[in-house]
Amino acid sequence: MKSLLAAISTTTKPALRSHLQPTNHLRILRATYAMQHTVPSLSDKSLLKDKTYINGQWIGAKSGKTFEVHDPASGKLIGTMPEMDKEDTEAAIQAAADALPAFRKLTGRERARMLRKWYTLMMENAEDIAKLITWENGKPMADAKGEVNYAANFFEWFSEEAPRVYGATIPASIAGNRVYTTKEPVGVCGLITPWNFPAAMITRKVGAALAAGCTVVAKSPGETPFTAAALAELAHRAGIPPGVFNIVTALKNTPEVGSTITSSNTVKKVSFTGSTGVGKLLMKQSSDTLKKLSFELGGNAPFIVFDDADLDVAVAGAIASKFRSSGQTCVCANRLYVQKGIYDDFAQAFTAKVKEFKVGSGFAGDVTHGPLIHDRAVDKVDAHVRDAEKQGGKVLVGGQKMPDLGSNYFQPTVIRDMTSKMNLAHEETFGPVAGLFPFDSEAEVVKLANDAEVGLAGYFFSRDVQRCFRVAEALEVGMVGINTGLISDPAAPFGGVKWSGFGREGSKYGIDEYMTVKMVTLGGMGMPLQGS
Ligand code: SIN
Repeated sequence: MKSLLAAISTTTKPALRSHLQPTNHLRILRATYAMQHTVPSLSDKSLLKDKTYINGQWIGAKSGKTFEVHDPASGKLIGTMPEMDKEDTEAAIQAAADALPAFRKLTGRERARMLRKWYTLMMENAEDIAKLITWENGKPMADAKGEVNYAANFFEWFSEEAPRVYGATIPASIAGNRVYTTKEPVGVCGLITPWNFPAAMITRKVGAALAAGCTVVAKSPGETPFTAAALAELAHRAGIPPGVFNIVTALKNTPEVGSTITSSNTVKKVSFTGSTGVGKLLMKQSSDTLKKLSFELGGNAPFIVFDDADLDVAVAGAIASKFRSSGQTCVCANRLYVQKGIYDDFAQAFTAKVKEFKVGSGFAGDVTHGPLIHDRAVDKVDAHVRDAEKQGGKVLVGGQKMPDLGSNYFQPTVIRDMTSKMNLAHEETFGPVAGLFPFDSEAEVVKLANDAEVGLAGYFFSRDVQRCFRVAEALEVGMVGINTGLISDPAAPFGGVKWSGFGREGSKYGIDEYMTVKMVTLGGMGMPLQGS
């Protein structure tokens, strides 16, 4: 009861609170708490599943086992999903293999129409899908709706790519030979996706794979399987043939499912988004069967503000990049380097914006930032803050867990006077903590920015056009944002260098990750015209 009241007190407007009589106060506070932890009601209840989708059927695990999924905002049970194992995964792979010959023979235009239909259905059901995302992931509804739009746009994008897969004609070096290429689907694909974008990380991979003519087995995240299941229901309605899109669900058995996918000789390609550590393991496991791979792994994005930046633009960019999804994206700013001439002004303006945030359940209308995914994530964030403080960092706002709201909440935090000795400088925080590192020169900050094993995204803010080119070329990352903190776009190639992985998703390059180039040489073609 104590924590209930504490939670309620922080969610009721102070002005209103001071005018309430104790009994009314309690009633209204209880109502506010209930609203904050509502179980969402879907317009289309058939989008909420407790089975998974394999070979066009809704099925459970052969063992009958299930796992529980909890709302990160309240800790309450959302529901259960099948705890699948090796045998279930092999059945899904077989379904995808059986569906492949017919699906790859469809024209690009036919596959485009299916993806377009799937896109339309996602947009028509956007509100319900967003509710599922908020429920199981915790992000506020506004962000969840943004994710549905982002996710559906990958289907739209790849529906436009599917009919435009071109080969080449190549001038041969050998007289009389004619050389041309075609592109072919690589085959059955295993897609392993994370919980931070329960819809978009699936559509970004599935859209490209299906456009190319591949069939897939997707392993949905143990924390967020319901959004993926809703997407499967819409795939069914869009007329995606049975066996083309299959989902394996598991929590405890995730390593077993992963190794079944990576060691299968039927699976020709694996695409994975997740940590660098798991990526290395999956790569090792895939080596026996020499699969095609694309991996989008960890980041530790440098975010640089030069003295010549527009302060307001830089602050807005930092808020967007650092605190999107409460800091739980691979491209979130992790190390904020601010040049000494603008450091104090930036720290003050940035902190003022962070103080405006409202933390709570993603279903509450005025909440800007939701919980983290679980208490292990909160502990990591807390450890980074405590380490920075111990080594001289000064917390300007936040810095604490929020047990009154629940075990998965951490205050949005800004720390100044960061140094490269601190853990946050070398490890991805994946949470709502912004550490501000002062620097003197361009050369110094580029060296600091590149002093990382990973290289996914990097950002900088400057109004000097020559500096813009110079620094963009010098940063060792796969993606650069100049004067913006938001770079994610289905039209733009997403991916990293170094230990952030390889391969590109979205864009005109994304489909190639699911295709192989076949070359054909015709000999004896240099004969003179008949009758000459
Ligand atoms: C990620 O966190 O892996 C993806 C972020 C994005 O697509 O913007």
